[in-house]
Amino acid sequence: MKNTVLVMGVTGQLGKLVAASLQQYSSVKIRVTSRRKNELEQLQKEYGESVFLDLDDPRTFSQALKDVDSIFFLTGYTVDMLVQSKAIVDAAKREGVKHLVHLGVFSPDPDCYDAHFAWHQMIEAYVKVSGINYTNLHPNCFLQNFTGFYQMIKDGKARFYAGGKPAGWIALEDVGEAAAKILAEGDKHYGKDYWFSTEVATLAELVNAFNEVTGKSLIADDRAPGQFLKDIAPDGNNIDPYFRGVADSFEQIYDGRMAYIGTVRDDVPVLLGRPGMSIRQWATLHKDELIALSS
Ligand SMILES: NC(=O)c1ccc[n+]([C@@H]2O[C@H](COP(=O)([O-])OP(=O)(O)OC[C@H]3O[C@@H](n4cnc5c(N)ncnc54)[C@H](OP(=O)(O)O)[C@@H]3O)[C@@H](O)[C@H]2O)c1
Repeated sequence: MKNTVLVMGVTGQLGKLVAASLQQYSSVKIRVTSRRKNELEQLQKEYGESVFLDLDDPRTFSQALKDVDSIFFLTGYTVDMLVQSKAIVDAAKREGVKHLVHLGVFSPDPDCYDAHFAWHQMIEAYVKVSGINYTNLHPNCFLQNFTGFYQMIKDGKARFYAGGKPAGWIALEDVGEAAAKILAEGDKHYGKDYWFSTEVATLAELVNAFNEVTGKSLIADDRAPGQFLKDIAPDGNNIDPYFRGVADSFEQIYDGRMAYIGTVRDDVPVLLGRPGMSIRQWATLHKDELIALSS
């Protein structure tokens, strides 16, 4: 009998890569979730099963979780992640889910008080006491931040807010493939934490690699941490507390409290038997997008 794996976030950056990678495992029945009712039919055609699930409405959980064995457990960029995560863990326990694969952040130091990192750590602690088998994924900065919703490339400039300090980078393709393997293989990954930080680079080094691949002349615009919130919300309004956490992490990378963000720690070889994708390899894969954004 096939294992039913519920994949959250399939309309977003990582969930879609997880679901796509899971399709190679014949032992798995994929069920994807979305709040977008008008996309459910198409998602069903693509992945097999699709269900409506709104993390802000626990009344939608029972039906979505019926007969589910494992969950790829992802929340979005909002402080609501806290209550959303508690609610889904409670429901998973009630419905007899066997394995939660949680997407967290690169948090090797438990003594951490940047808000969004601390929230992920508290969610992981809640999962642990729930008694459900778990695996925690800890990716460092997504390379997709440059091509995806964060829009870190604008007007021919790539922006980062660590004031020139280095960070660790990861290709989401690797996290997606690794997460799918963990979900498909199940019990050998119970209770484990996996780290995804393949290559360390400053913004200037990243942009050099992008330009070598694209032949364009993107400029590295290293900004001070304090500029981040001003750039994403110039009027200072409607800033989700999650992004105040992101601003805080830039501050702490800059002053050294979170210097570990600039370290390599890579379980891609452990999980997939090959090296993680380098920045240059990732840029080659995303060359067309980078050219369009650099122009
Ligand atoms: N950016 C980074 O560098 C970085 C690094 C480490 C970790 N992370 C973590 O990555 C996660 C975000 O991943 P991502 O970039 O793939 O996200 P994303 O592209 O923003 O996609 C978010 C997904 O979550 C779903 N979603 C949002 N709110 C929901 C709700 N109320 N109920 C049900 N589904 C909901 C959306 O689905 P529908 O709209 O279809 O419902 C969407 O598919 C966060 O937990 C973040 O902390 C990010």
